[in-house]
Amino acid sequence: MDSSPYSTTSEIFAVGGEDYLKEGHTPTTLPERQEEILKLRRSLKPAARGAGAENTFLSGKAGQGKTAAAKAELSELEAFAEAQALDLTTVFFSCEGISSSYTLACGLCEKLGGENPNGHPMQKVLDHLWDAMNDIGGTIIIVLDEIDNLGTDDKILYSLPRARDKDYVNDDVYPSIIGISNDLQWRDNLDPAAKDSLYDDSIFFAPYDANELRDILSRRASKAFRETTLVYQNPDGEEFEISVDLDDDDDASLTECFESVDADRDDCTLVRVESDVLSDDVIPLCAAYAAQDKGSARQAIKYLRKAAAIAESEGDTRVEEEHVRTAKGEAERELIIEGMEQLTTQGHLALAAVTILELAGHSGIRTRDVYDVYKALSDHIDADQLAQRRMRDHLIELDMLSIIRARKSASGSVGGEAYTFKLRVEPSTAIDVLEAVSRFDSVDFDDLVKNWLTEQQTLG
Ligand SMILES: Nc1ncnc2c1ncn2[C@@H]1O[C@H](COP(=O)(O)OP(=O)(O)O)[C@@H](O)[C@H]1O
Ligand SMILES: [Mg+2]
Repeated sequence: MDSSPYSTTSEIFAVGGEDYLKEGHTPTTLPERQEEILKLRRSLKPAARGAGAENTFLSGKAGQGKTAAAKAELSELEAFAEAQALDLTTVFFSCEGISSSYTLACGLCEKLGGENPNGHPMQKVLDHLWDAMNDIGGTIIIVLDEIDNLGTDDKILYSLPRARDKDYVNDDVYPSIIGISNDLQWRDNLDPAAKDSLYDDSIFFAPYDANELRDILSRRASKAFRETTLVYQNPDGEEFEISVDLDDDDDASLTECFESVDADRDDCTLVRVESDVLSDDVIPLCAAYAAQDKGSARQAIKYLRKAAAIAESEGDTRVEEEHVRTAKGEAERELIIEGMEQLTTQGHLALAAVTILELAGHSGIRTRDVYDVYKALSDHIDADQLAQRRMRDHLIELDMLSIIRARKSASGSVGGEAYTFKLRVEPSTAIDVLEAVSRFDSVDFDDLVKNWLTEQQTLG
């Protein structure tokens, strides 16, 4: 028997099954987004006739299948173009970490032409970009994912979609942009005159509801887990099982399964998952938790993946509701830790001050208590020192991020609201995060805690 803790056989996951619950897996069909995909197809259609696609804007909160839908539809178009020997090029560009038009233009040059003109003036970079497009020629579809990272430095978004109208590129070049944004407000903040002319079409991805999330999870589960099949119902009310062959790594295989039982996938509804390794409530619970929050498929899948991993690490052979609850707690903690890591220096200072006081045994911590520690700390690391009121705003923000709890206290001072603050995370977790912040390299937290020990403790 294979008894190593790294034994590769799993009682829960099918061989290679975890991959279906990972971020990298892209489904080829998204039945819950049929309408949105049809709209996108309409925008892309002119490209299939050798002209330019419509400039299109996809928006919706994170985890709504925007990236997956765009990827699936573009690969469909690419396959068609290849079969028809069309002169079509698609480029998928993630704007993660790109916050200026300049960096975006450089990145696109590199992607399209292989060379990054970083360092040259903007006009030169743009010339590079148009040259690269001219060299490629034909229809060019550029997907700019997470375009909201550009913030307000969005100049390039005015020239790029109109490169052809403005004669920046040759007559035989048909460029177009598919912009994708997770931030619903971002587009509203664009220059009003330009915002309407920027895109021909715009497609909104509404949050998934619990039923849709359940279906998405069920399909993933049928591939990820052992002994797990989907039970569908046809329009006559007859039930039948579909089990997907793991060797086929896409949803197209699912459609084939339907054909093999003489059913049309679009007419059938998924009624349940039959599984030896998932108890009945696991998928509905993951779906419900995610639906209550942001309706994010990413989050729902994460709950399922974590729940299964927890069950497995505990040596259980079935994933139960309890594992989902633990998974949800863990995922939430991870999110809070990420929130702590991404704070500004002022946010870190405010957090550090509360943490130090709490470790020193203080309770009912008031703004002015925090401010004393804050001042000492900001002096020490040579950071800007805010007024007490502005520092308090940072504390309130920490409360909104679920990192600390701010309570309005009864004994409010005249003319302002008084608060008490309490950590909502383990002090040791906060310290771990703070110690990793380079700005705090010279801070000895143990020392500071000793300085602020409560009187009882110093006397006792
Ligand atoms: N309708 C769907 N069917 C199957 N998987 C989906 C569906 N919608 C989203 N997903 C999956 O959920 C995750 C998040 O989707 P993604 O397209 O990255 O969201 P967005 O780009 O809107 O943030 C990905 O793993 C994706 O494959
Ligand atoms: Mg995305």
